[in-house]
Amino acid sequence: MSKTNHINRIPRAKGIDMAAFYSPKECGRKAKHIVFSADNERVVEEFITILGMKEQFAEHDVPMPNKMVMFGPPGTGKTLTAFHLAHRLQLPLVLVRLDAIIHSHLGETGSNVRKLFEYARANPCVLFLDEFDAVGRTRESNDEVKEMARVVNTLLQCLDEFEGDSILVAATNLETQLDQAIWRRFDTKMTYSMPDESSRRLYISKLMGQFEQESQLEDYTCERLTGCSYADVEQIVLKAKRKAIIASSPLHEQFINDAYVEYMPRVLAT
Ligand SMILES: Nc1ncnc2c1ncn2[C@@H]1O[C@H](COP(=O)(O)OP(=O)(O)O)[C@@H](O)[C@H]1O
Ligand SMILES: [Mg+2]
Repeated sequence: MSKTNHINRIPRAKGIDMAAFYSPKECGRKAKHIVFSADNERVVEEFITILGMKEQFAEHDVPMPNKMVMFGPPGTGKTLTAFHLAHRLQLPLVLVRLDAIIHSHLGETGSNVRKLFEYARANPCVLFLDEFDAVGRTRESNDEVKEMARVVNTLLQCLDEFEGDSILVAATNLETQLDQAIWRRFDTKMTYSMPDESSRRLYISKLMGQFEQESQLEDYTCERLTGCSYADVEQIVLKAKRKAIIASSPLHEQFINDAYVEYMPRVLAT
């Protein structure tokens, strides 16, 4: 397969070079194997349904949702959901890591945040603020605390004024550190967690696909990878496939087991 250009130079604006841009098609490719919990699937489908019913909502004078926040541990599909949404809504994705724009120059964060929201107002997109909790993180020095408070205020204002055809999506690993005033402004909230057995099984079967394998391998893998995040499951299955390819062999238990041991996932004791 040819190497694809991951960042498309689509409606790209001056002054927001901290953002990465992805076309809807690219987003679809990335989110191809996404697995949702039943609850999150419902929330996402409802969100998309509503966005397709603009006239009806205007008629009833009920505002459309346009701000979604996702909370949960790493590797459970928050970023992937942003790609999925952009694909389903056929909007470009504008991805920004909030920690990156804050940590480089705290003093410029407020104006950077404004620029992003201005961009989203003028250009329909899914504006995805990843590592969203970075805004709430307390700082060492007094000056930084004050500056951060200003950033939070700017963000609150931008959230309140956010309207038009763009969607704002934010993701955070740390629910508790997020400023309550910010949290309240999101109309749609989703919680992410480690895959349960059936989600893990579904994801493993998507990852293994048509790869030649010994029978019952999915059952073994599902059991062996208990406690792993989706991201861990993916890495371990890919590692095992590599081993099978270099050994010119079908995928079997030993490869899964070796990949697991080498990868050393951080599995929480249950
Ligand atoms: N729910 C999921 N369904 C399918 N794949 C997932 C899921 N969660 C994570 N992954 C895999 O792990 C990688 C990292 O996931 P990501 O969405 O970045 O996690 P998060 O943003 O929650 O830390 C993804 O690129 C994908 O390959
Ligand atoms: Mg992420």
